[in-house]
Amino acid sequence: MSEPRQILVTSALPYANGSIHLGHMLEYIQTDMWVRFQKLRGNQCIYVCADDAHGSAIMLRAEKEGITPEQLIANVQAEHSSDFADFLVDFDNFHSTHSDENRELSELIYTRLRDAGHIATRSVTQYFDPEKGMFLADRFIKGTCPKCAAEDQYGDNCEKCGATYAPTELKNPKSAISGATPVLRDSQHFFFKLPDFQAMLQQWTRSGTLQEAVANKLAEWLDAGLQEWDISRDAPYFGFEIPGEPGKYFYVWLDAPIGYMASFKNLCARRPELDFDAFWNEGSKAELYHFIGKDIVNFHALFWPAMLEGAGLRKPTAVNVHGYLTVNGAKMSKSRGTFIKARTYLDHLQPEYLRYYYAAKLGRGVDDLDLNLEDFVQKVNSDLVGKVVNIASRCAGFIHKGNAGVMVAGDAAPELTEAFLAAAPLIAEAYESRDFGRAMREIMALADRANAWIADKAPWSLAKQEGKQEEVQAICAQGINLFRQLVIFLKPVLPLLAADAEAFLNVAPLTWNDHQSRLENHQLNPFKALMSRIEPAKIEAMIAASKEDLLAAETQAPVGNGELAKDPLSAEIEFDTFAAVDLRVALIVKAQAVPGADKLLQLTLDIGDEQRNVFSGIKSAYPDPSQLEGRLTMMVANLKPRKMRFGVSEGMVMAAGPGGEEIYLLSPDSGAKPGQRIK
Ligand code: 2FM
Ligand code: ZN
Repeated sequence: MSEPRQILVTSALPYANGSIHLGHMLEYIQTDMWVRFQKLRGNQCIYVCADDAHGSAIMLRAEKEGITPEQLIANVQAEHSSDFADFLVDFDNFHSTHSDENRELSELIYTRLRDAGHIATRSVTQYFDPEKGMFLADRFIKGTCPKCAAEDQYGDNCEKCGATYAPTELKNPKSAISGATPVLRDSQHFFFKLPDFQAMLQQWTRSGTLQEAVANKLAEWLDAGLQEWDISRDAPYFGFEIPGEPGKYFYVWLDAPIGYMASFKNLCARRPELDFDAFWNEGSKAELYHFIGKDIVNFHALFWPAMLEGAGLRKPTAVNVHGYLTVNGAKMSKSRGTFIKARTYLDHLQPEYLRYYYAAKLGRGVDDLDLNLEDFVQKVNSDLVGKVVNIASRCAGFIHKGNAGVMVAGDAAPELTEAFLAAAPLIAEAYESRDFGRAMREIMALADRANAWIADKAPWSLAKQEGKQEEVQAICAQGINLFRQLVIFLKPVLPLLAADAEAFLNVAPLTWNDHQSRLENHQLNPFKALMSRIEPAKIEAMIAASKEDLLAAETQAPVGNGELAKDPLSAEIEFDTFAAVDLRVALIVKAQAVPGADKLLQLTLDIGDEQRNVFSGIKSAYPDPSQLEGRLTMMVANLKPRKMRFGVSEGMVMAAGPGGEEIYLLSPDSGAKPGQRIK
């Protein structure tokens, strides 16, 4: 027996300012399946992740919500953790980059790089918001495109004509934060001297660490010559101050990958058998794999290995890159309802359906993966319910009825037993190389053979015949043994189905090598349905709820969840713009839940001379809508009516708060009358 491997695995750290959606899940699910496969094989495999908690976007969002960044990241971490757990993504540790371990390790790596001469400083001229008192990243500057004159474009590219430019080329630049005209200002910045690592990277990127397409892409950058990387940001910034440099902070992307180490270090404190240094010191025998999307290859396959090398640490064994998720052949779209949050999916469907579909469609390349919702229903129903679970449900009843639930001994189909054993190394090899699609095809081909054999033997016909009981038992015991092997092969993808199957089979948790043995003279537990078919209506409900997420965010004035805001923060407006808003005192005459909508309330509002029908995304804070009836609130009365699935919404009520249970409907002082204008 070979020694168990020591493997550390990571997925990219999600930003701590937004919800997890099905695009994110493509990465976490594939990493989790690979980790579960390694564990099933008996390897020591540790899977760590964390929230990526630093940066100006998080600082500004917290400010906008009136909470500290620490509160914001704690709220988001709780949401992310439960989304992952409910998708059966089983991290050994889910930490935060805003942690003591990450501060220590970031300081350690930085000082090692600095002391080895890999840090340079020089002055950089950048736009500065004189009102907000901060330098502006490109996405916080808006203005007129220098190429096509389109207004309201970001500081580095034009969404209308696709041009890219420096923020200083933008005409009429404005701070997207305060609306002020930014001024150019100099400041000292710290740079990581990436060109020092050109030769190492040229070799490392071609040493089997990357998929060929990724290595080829990197070769283009390497051939063009590497640039020094700006790793500092000026205060105010939510992050770690650079040691010995007051007012200068590490750029979020400097300490984010160090967050992988920090999460592992945090775990080591709880798991004494894990030796941090043995995993991270140069020359480590442990394997280290990062799973990432193709948009962040430069950070993981250039900057990160160079940082590790420069700090005298080990480099990744491989960086596994995947493509993006599309839904029904197109980019996820909020208005089409295909921008599906993890929680919205979970509200309607089982996590294993998606895990299987992703597995069935994932290859080892960087191609995008399309979640075609019709194909999803068809494939899951046909493969999992129609093929795999079907074997057990066809056979279990006869064993319970005819032999008190005891599986008889003997191999009724040696050629099938042989085929299943022979397929196991091929399936393992497909998992190992992350060719999940190939693994699923091999497994389903076995399931087809098992079903065809059972259909041919037709135990249901034999059971009606005299003297065939022994044969029926032999066939059904064989069927259950084949089912058990399929469950082992699918266990990395379908851990819940496997756990339920283990309960039915009355066995301890199955490991990979268990596929070599069989159950004989073995008592089964009663059979319960292991998986139900996906009903297409559930898909429709999920799409409707995703559209509703968008509407709820839009109708939850004034603060949405940040994600949908066009600007990072609202810019200043002219008085005339404000004066154009018809704000009125409104009496809530009726408040009721909307059938088929999870987040909306339907309000009937009296504004003096007329009544308005308004849908508002405030249900999570007012589960008993009747408590709102008779209460005064404030509404925007001249908002353009909006046609919704449930009816027309004729205005918007005003509320404060970050969302969820924390939504606070605004009310005027007592004495105000319905219909009065708010000035
Ligand atoms: O692109 C992103 O979502 C980043 N938050 C990923 C960070 S991965 C790692 F480097 F921390
Ligand atoms: Zn343009």
